[in-house]
Amino acid sequence: MPAPDLETIVSLAKRRGFVFPSAEIYGGFANTYDYGPLGVELKRNIREAWWKSMVRDRDDVVGIDAALITNPNVWVASGHVANFTDPLVDCRKCQMRFRLDHLEEGAYGEVRRNAAGQVVCPNDGGELTEPRMFNMMFKTQVGPVADETAVAYLPPETAQGMFVNFENVVTSMRRKLPFGIAQARTSFRNEITPGKFIFRTLEFEQMEMEFFCKPGTDLEWYRYWVDERLRWYTEVVGIDPSRLRLREHAKEELSHYSAGTTDIEYLFPWGWGELEGVADRTDYDLKAHSAQSGHPISYFDEESGEHLVPYVVEPAAGLSRTLAVVLLDVYTEEPDEKGDSRVVLKFRPNIAPIKVAVLPLSKNEKLRPLARRVYDLVRPKWMTQYDETQSIGRRYRRQDEIGTPFCVTVDFDSLEDDAVTIRERDSQEQLRVPIGGLVAALNERLDC
Ligand code: GAP
Repeated sequence: MPAPDLETIVSLAKRRGFVFPSAEIYGGFANTYDYGPLGVELKRNIREAWWKSMVRDRDDVVGIDAALITNPNVWVASGHVANFTDPLVDCRKCQMRFRLDHLEEGAYGEVRRNAAGQVVCPNDGGELTEPRMFNMMFKTQVGPVADETAVAYLPPETAQGMFVNFENVVTSMRRKLPFGIAQARTSFRNEITPGKFIFRTLEFEQMEMEFFCKPGTDLEWYRYWVDERLRWYTEVVGIDPSRLRLREHAKEELSHYSAGTTDIEYLFPWGWGELEGVADRTDYDLKAHSAQSGHPISYFDEESGEHLVPYVVEPAAGLSRTLAVVLLDVYTEEPDEKGDSRVVLKFRPNIAPIKVAVLPLSKNEKLRPLARRVYDLVRPKWMTQYDETQSIGRRYRRQDEIGTPFCVTVDFDSLEDDAVTIRERDSQEQLRVPIGGLVAALNERLDC
């Protein structure tokens, strides 16, 4: 089945409590969204899956949680103060403002050109001003006086927290190369291009890992992490491999710090777009922080008996963007048990926001006590919903539409045989199990 269009997902996300436009009662706010009760669970599950694969299941990566607002010299050293800029142009007719690079990529719709071949305003064909460079970091002020010495920045990436803590981690955790430091946290960018739902937002969560290795081994690790991260999307998150591809950056496209970058791209409804970048950042960042801070950062290599500056390979993923991809990827329309159409979000169980729904066959005083007992049995182990409103068929549809892998139905026979029916979301198969064996039966099937 082809991927759904974006409007279908935006509408389902709002209707079912995944993602809401932010401050909607005030008319919203550009490129800003709020996560609803199911969205926050989904986001947690993706973050947990990443943390498990990148930190808990490995011996060579540790996690940190660095401050958001920190010494502004960090952003001078990283190059963001000088280089994190994009070209902005204004339409001389309608005064609308655009990012020239996004305009040229078609982010505002069809690219329009004048007779001389120059890009013009996508709205009214108006001539554009010369590009002006615009820094995408949000500035804030620390303390009561708003002068230049009080300037601080909201972080545009999580990576720098790992570089400035490199020595702390080596010393406190007795780490030897190669090893990584991981962090999943909010980043901020002053994006002016319309963001296509949560694909591009002002604030978003990133899941980044800096893998420190000996110079000369970086290329090998770079290839390893490209493969490993692609495997994570397909095997752990369950993304359709035919909608993923790798794209290596051309030399002129590389960021100021990168000796090589490969994007993991997803086939969005508007075409291929970046989901994660894996970059060989060389020793750029550690050297830059050494120079800016006056505190030389190095690593003592016991094997050679020499101090060296490690190279770094960075897999940098967007959590919010992965959430958008998951919603697009799992959306399915197909016939239900009765041959009517149903919408199903086919999440892998580890990612699904709600794992089990307990549904008494009908809203009935006789069924309720047993149904509540079943609910109390299941909910300590998995995120579970209890629902007794409307017909059972409608409740199955509702659970399908939010991607709940299993429904447990309590019917009038349950009062006699102390058994319930498990209905599996994708096959719609039903299985009768004794209540005493319910948790074990779900455990076997959910495996999370
Ligand atoms: N430390 C390297 C770095 O930040 P990046 O390619 O700029 O690299 C990494 O960002 C990932 O963060 C992207 O692949 C994307 O998934 C996500 N991302 C970047 N800007 C974003 C935005 N404005 N909204 C949502 N996600 C974003």
